[in-house]
Parts: sequence; C-alpha cells; structure tokens
Amino acid sequence: MNILLLGSGGREHALAWKMTQSHHCDQLFIAPGNAGTAQLGTNLPIGVTDFAAIRQCCIEQQIQMVVVGPEEPLVKGIYDFFTHDPELQSIIVVGPSAKAAQLEGSKAFSKKFMQRHQIPTAAYAEFTAENYEAGRSYIAAHSLPVVLKADGLAAGKGVVIASTHEEALAVFEEMILHKQFGEASNKVVIEEFLTGIEVSVFVLTNGTDYQIIGHAKDYKRIGEGDTGLNTGGMGCVSPVPFMDESFMQKVESRIIAPTIRGLAAEELTYHGFIFFGLMNRHGEPMVIEYNCRMGDPETEVVMPRLQTDLVALFAAMDNGTLADANISFDERACATVIAASGGYPGSYEKDKPIEGLEQAAAGKDTLVFHAGTRLQDNTVRTNGGRVLAVSAYGTNITQAAEQARQSLSQIRFEGIYYRKDIGYEFEV
Ligand code: AMP
Ligand code: GLY
Repeated sequence: MNILLLGSGGREHALAWKMTQSHHCDQLFIAPGNAGTAQLGTNLPIGVTDFAAIRQCCIEQQIQMVVVGPEEPLVKGIYDFFTHDPELQSIIVVGPSAKAAQLEGSKAFSKKFMQRHQIPTAAYAEFTAENYEAGRSYIAAHSLPVVLKADGLAAGKGVVIASTHEEALAVFEEMILHKQFGEASNKVVIEEFLTGIEVSVFVLTNGTDYQIIGHAKDYKRIGEGDTGLNTGGMGCVSPVPFMDESFMQKVESRIIAPTIRGLAAEELTYHGFIFFGLMNRHGEPMVIEYNCRMGDPETEVVMPRLQTDLVALFAAMDNGTLADANISFDERACATVIAASGGYPGSYEKDKPIEGLEQAAAGKDTLVFHAGTRLQDNTVRTNGGRVLAVSAYGTNITQAAEQARQSLSQIRFEGIYYRKDIGYEFEV
C-alpha cells in the first residue's frame, strides 16, 4: 500500500526506516520529511497541520495509510478529519481521535482520566483565573519542589519544577495572568514532585486490544551527568536493565490495562501509539504523562529493536487482529546519541554543511537517523537543534553506546555537540 508519514524528525526517519522494510509498503511519502527520509521515500513540502494539502495529497497519491508522527495534528483532529470525509474515510489513520488525544493535549484531562481509572500518578489540583487566589494558597501550602504545568500543548516548555514558593508563585502568575503560553496556560495543573528514574513505555492499541512494542530511557538534559537545561532528548537506551518482567508486570496491570479499559469504557476512539511517561519510584511505576505518539529519540532505539513488521501491525490494529500479533524483539541492546547544533536548547545557527555521514553509517551495527537536516544542492545541512540521532546495537548498553559514539565521531559540522555519557548509569 501507499503510505503517508507526517513529521520531519529523527522519530520519522526511524519510522520510515522501519516501514520501508515491510513488503506491505509500496510507496512511502513523507510530509515534510528531512534529508534522511528523502533516501527512503518521497518528501513532500506539506506542513503537518495543513489538512487541506494532506487531503489533496492522499487523493492524488492514492494513499491507503497515514502515520502521524507528532502530536499537533492529532490534537487538532486529523483522525476525525479523515473519518468525516467520504473520500478519505477508508484510509487507515495511525493516531487517536482529537478527544482521545486530549490525554496529551490537556494535562487536566489526563489527570482526571487517571483519577477516574485509579491509575497511579502524582497528587494534583487545577486552577484558572477564576480561582487564582485559591491556587496561590494551594502553592503556598505545597511541599517543595512543586510542579506547575500549563494545561495545553506548549512545545515542551509548559512544565516548571519550582524549588521555592516564590518561584512557583511567579510562574503561576506568568502562566495564568500574563498568559505565558496563550490559551495553553489558561488552566494550570499543580502537582506533587515525584522522585525516581523516568522511563518511557510504548504501546500500540485499537482502543480495546494492545501490544507493548518497546521501552526506553531518555536523557533529557543537555549536559553530561544529567545537568543543565532540559531538551527534547539527547540520547536513549533500550532495554532498560531494571525494567524486568516483574516491573513490566506492574506497568501492565496497574497502568496499561486500566488505561485501555478506560478508553473503551469512555468510548474514546484510539487507533495508534500511546507513550506512557513513567516514574520508577522505588520499583513502583507511576504515570508522569501520556503522549499520543511515539517519543523522540525513543523511536530511534525502539524501532531498531522491534522485529515485527510495523505496517502489518498497523493493519492488524485496523482490522481487529492486534491481539493475535506476534511481537518479537532483537535481543541486542540499542543506544542512540543525538548530535545537536551548538547553543541548543538555546539559540543556534542552521545551514551548516554536514560531513562524514557515509563513514558514520558504515560503522559496525550503526544506523544514522536524521532529525534536523535538509538537502540543498546535494549537500546535507543542519536544519534544527537536534540534527542527527546515531543509533547502534551492542551486546549490552555500554557497548551499544560506545559504538554509537564511535560512529558519531566520524561526523563533522560546525558547532556539533553531543553527550558522551549516554547510558552511563548502566555501565558494565
Ligand atoms: P511532562 O510534559 O508532563 O512530561 O513534563 C516534562 C518533564 O517534567 C517530565 O518528563 C519530567 O522529567 C518532569 N516532570 C513532570 N511532572 C513531574 C512530577 N510530577 N515529578 C517530577 N518530575 C516531573
Ligand atoms: N523524548 C520525549 C518525547 O518525545 O516527548
């Protein structure tokens, strides 16, 4: 079948890499894609929320499946747009309905959902301009640190962990009274800070059945030793040594199964990925957040380890046979290291020519995924903060990460920065 993939990051390159290995995939189109996806299919200059242009493309290219990478088109209702259009109705859309995408699109919605279904998560309260004074009192009496979250999508910047009450009150004022994130911060969730190690679990579901397709640990801070500013993710490893059968059993029985039962009970239409952002608190998993998509850079380690045909899984999700699917994983560990532009996550320059991509890709058991790149006059250039995700397999995380770094050391562009310690705490 002909498939359209929406997005332009490392996640999308990894999904494209995986999908083009399927004999069910005839032609792959990527909108808008990057220099890496251009090697696997046809990039189209269409924005991920330009539903009219996406519709036109689906009709012209006889698309039978649309795979949605990022959250924005999902929260804006791309699933519903397709199901309500007679000409697009028969196309399989991998992603939830707008209502179900609120699990990511509204922190207040997801917290209430977890409460209704007794899913373990941090204690919280929500406030708007209407009960602003009550919010101030709630903050003043809250233990420290305290977590403030803008309710809506805020490009990953809507969460603040405040270590003093003064800071928390200032952030609260900024979000509610000064509309720091526009409508997204009309409502603010204030919650308890959870300590522990954060991990990501990925599920594919049709709203009734589900399959776990992988898990990973992301390294979110810019600096080595997990220091400095938060980023979209500077590296990832999978599998995570402490996520053994007993831990995963808890994740499944306390979190995944009740979430899927909750979706079904509330008739929330969901045909897609759920990303469970979890905190391992002394061996007890708790939900930090839901996302209605795959993670980035998690996808760059999850897809290399997933042996099952992904397009066949999407078809099974659509035709009611997902429960019968056979999920198998590569036994090897996989690590990915992100090469970022100098200055990221602050301001950085673009358009730097990238050299050494072929030499890096020739590295042992290495996959070079493009994140922020574009092709101009036959030269691959930087086009974002996170530029490349270099993934490698190894017999354990230490070896995989070492191989990823070694392959990455072949790549050069002005200002290149990457963490040299991805997987450090699992060193063997
Ligand atoms: P979110 O957008 O909800 O994932 O929050 C972004 C990041 O903030 C998470 O990935 C965590 O690292 C951190 N975070 C969010 N909520 C909490 C919490 N309740 N306790 C500790 N850290 C949190
Ligand atoms: N790596 C975290 C995310 O994709 O949200």
